[in-house]
Amino acid sequence: MAAPRILGGTCSRVSCIEDLFKEVFNCSPTHRVRAPGRVNLIGEHIDYNGLPVFPMALQRAARIVFRPRNDRIVALHSSDERFHPVEFEIGPEIERWSQGSWGNYVKAPAKELAYRFEIQRGFDGVLQSDIPVAAGLSSSSAIVNAVGLALAHLNDVLAEPGEFAGLMAEAELFVGTRGGGMDQAISLGAKDHSAAKVSFNPIRLQHVTVPDGWCFIIADSGEVAEKSGSRQAEYNLRRTKCEEALHIISTNLLEQGITEGLHESYPELCASLDTEVLLDFSENLLTASEHRCFRHVVTEAGRVEAAIERMLAADIRGFGAYMNASHDSLKTDYQVSTEALDEIVQVAREGGAVGARLTGAGFGGCVVALAERRRARDVLGALQVEYYERRGRKNRMNERLFIAVPSRGASVRVI
Ligand code: GLA
Repeated sequence: MAAPRILGGTCSRVSCIEDLFKEVFNCSPTHRVRAPGRVNLIGEHIDYNGLPVFPMALQRAARIVFRPRNDRIVALHSSDERFHPVEFEIGPEIERWSQGSWGNYVKAPAKELAYRFEIQRGFDGVLQSDIPVAAGLSSSSAIVNAVGLALAHLNDVLAEPGEFAGLMAEAELFVGTRGGGMDQAISLGAKDHSAAKVSFNPIRLQHVTVPDGWCFIIADSGEVAEKSGSRQAEYNLRRTKCEEALHIISTNLLEQGITEGLHESYPELCASLDTEVLLDFSENLLTASEHRCFRHVVTEAGRVEAAIERMLAADIRGFGAYMNASHDSLKTDYQVSTEALDEIVQVAREGGAVGARLTGAGFGGCVVALAERRRARDVLGALQVEYYERRGRKNRMNERLFIAVPSRGASVRVI
């Protein structure tokens, strides 16, 4: 492993990471890859249950400038001094570093691609990202995608976009969180000005243009929601509960002759019976906590479909109402909200947002609020004053509070 090297403060311009590259590797980079973060508009904690979700990619991204090597080493430095340089040899047997090490997000795609394809070339690279870390905006999947695309490009890996997104989702399981495929799919496949309905098995994206007058605002609570850290067990526990609930309900439906075959997935189960019927039927079969999780999943699936209809109809209030209902369900049934997130949601709604909800896995991180563009200033002002300033919380240079611009997905190119 290369000797750790401190590269100075965070830089935000492309020329700046190119300078850093020259400083570290004594030559110029030849390629550049960019993979954006995302904000999920609605459909939380249901992607790993195979149900569609509705995120959009952000203007904030992970960027790597790199130069191919003639061996299978990946050497990656970060412009952010909190993240030490990483170096390893690509192969299907790569082992994880300790839990919480950011380098595992670099190893993850290398291992997956090496397992599936002939990968002979690594790279020297410098990473710079302006996606807030551990804030529910997929800073980690952006790194996975950027490294994965760089390696795929250098090693002539051929894969359909949906297949590649699936590979990257599979790759990230290496880190230990049993996530779904939303983050990787939207970061790779998004289109400018649009959100996308992401469906699974196989991954498909249906793009929906965000109406001009709509403004999505992101407010970071400042509470760290580290996916690979302490929240991992909580996240995985919920996924297990969902799987158990599906198994119990499907088995009972079959045994009681209500369905003909065993439903092995949530999409099949949700399509087979009305939501209210399913909820009544399951109440006495599940523990109270399993039933709450189940109720979140099946009602959230309905909200995704209904909210997309509202966006297509340019009905901002209708869309906002589904965002509000989603937050309430995540708070009460799925129990992944926090006091700070609830407080931001409240401030945003009182400040003029038509809807607000936690976004991403929860347990901290960010809220996304929707406002008419002409009211955005009011909502931003309310959040700045009522959340950040009044409570003495830091919000330097709008790092934590910003307008989300629906942006295009990842790309790699020669410099
Ligand atoms: C994380 C995971 C996603 C998804 C969300 C919750 O971001 O990576 O797959 O499950 O949490 O919706």
